Amino acid sequence: MNLTLKIWRQKSPEVKGKMETYPVYDVSPDMSFLEMLDVLNEDLVERGEVPIAFDHDCREGICGACSLHINGEPHGPMQRTTTCQLHMRSFKDGDTIFVEPWRAKAFPVIKDLVVDRSAFDRIIQAGGYVSVNTSGNTLDANAIPIPKEDADKAFDAATCIGCGACVASCKNASAMLFVSAKVSQLTLLPQGEVEAGERVQNMVSQMDKEGFGNCSVTGACQVECPKGISLENIARMNREFLKTNLSPGK
Ligand code: SF4
Ligand code: FES
Repeated sequence: MNLTLKIWRQKSPEVKGKMETYPVYDVSPDMSFLEMLDVLNEDLVERGEVPIAFDHDCREGICGACSLHINGEPHGPMQRTTTCQLHMRSFKDGDTIFVEPWRAKAFPVIKDLVVDRSAFDRIIQAGGYVSVNTSGNTLDANAIPIPKEDADKAFDAATCIGCGACVASCKNASAMLFVSAKVSQLTLLPQGEVEAGERVQNMVSQMDKEGFGNCSVTGACQVECPKGISLENIARMNREFLKTNLSPGK
């Protein structure tokens, strides 16, 4: 396949970026999107040009690092697929493909296609954990029975990989799908229920501080999420938030 790539190039956060055009030839349909970028980068290096910076790590769809806006869609045209799992057979010979970084104030561009997603880390630090007393004997894994339905819902929420596609797809750059998945994953389980109120307050407060927008329930996040995280989690987070705000002593 021969393709034309229009790629966002930006030297640093302070410098204005622009789209640059790169023709690529003999692309195998079996290559992943990132492998295709690797080949382009090898060519650029051979020609003495600066390679395109893009984020990646596992290349297995589990780390959330590979965050690219491809033809206007986070992670490209395939549903439930991260950029690293997207293959060139999803495109046609002769296609022009636009590749951009996530666009959100809370995710500033560091270089080219790499954005700073440390806002997500700070939200997790604010409450995305369970405090456990680890002194004494280890608890038997089956000591606390958990209803199957709750375990399944918690597991589904826990599949969020923190990629940020939900933010990138939202007209408000809202992080509610991400935060609600992290809140749900812990709150649905008895181990996480103890700190549920404090957790939701702290995580939502940090989310607001980071400059993410609010949710207006358009559902684009759910459609673009590579892990199929459901809007149901946002409803759960809103309920938890309201519950703690209305609780006596608040
Ligand atoms: S909710 Fe989905 S889109 Fe958002 S960070 Fe998690 S996996 Fe990515
Ligand atoms: S590189 Fe890890 S999810 Fe794509």
